[in-house]
Amino acid sequence: MTKIGYIVGSIGTTSINRTLGGALVNLLPEGVEAVEIPIKQLPFFSTDLEGDFPQVALDFKEQIESVDGVIIITPEYNRSIPGVLKNAIEWASRPYGNFSFGG
Ligand SMILES: Cc1cc2nc3c(=O)[nH]c(=O)nc-3n(C[C@H](O)[C@H](O)[C@H](O)COP(=O)(O)O)c2cc1C
Repeated sequence: MTKIGYIVGSIGTTSINRTLGGALVNLLPEGVEAVEIPIKQLPFFSTDLEGDFPQVALDFKEQIESVDGVIIITPEYNRSIPGVLKNAIEWASRPYGNFSFGG
């Protein structure tokens, strides 16, 4: 079984991107499953927190590392990605040398 994690770049409860994520799950071929990796619970990333990495951030990294691939489904905010999504990527990239998206 191949496991895909998908991250939705919008945390709004009526997010159309989350609806798209749900539709994606229904389109997967046999032998592939997908689960949402939520980002809403993550605090703002700060280097002050790196010495005592929050459990929610460790759990988030573990979820990314446990899947075979990650799909990001996101709206555009001000010609870039939403801050909440960038924040999640910061957490996944730390501590230095331990980037959860690697591989
Ligand atoms: C703060 C903010 C900034 C936005 N900036 C852009 C933008 O630069 N380009 C664009 O096409 N849409 C922009 N939009 C529209 C969103 O991308 C659009 O509403 C999208 O469907 C929201 O996704 P969601 O329903 O999953 O939250 C912006 C919306 C918000 C709230």
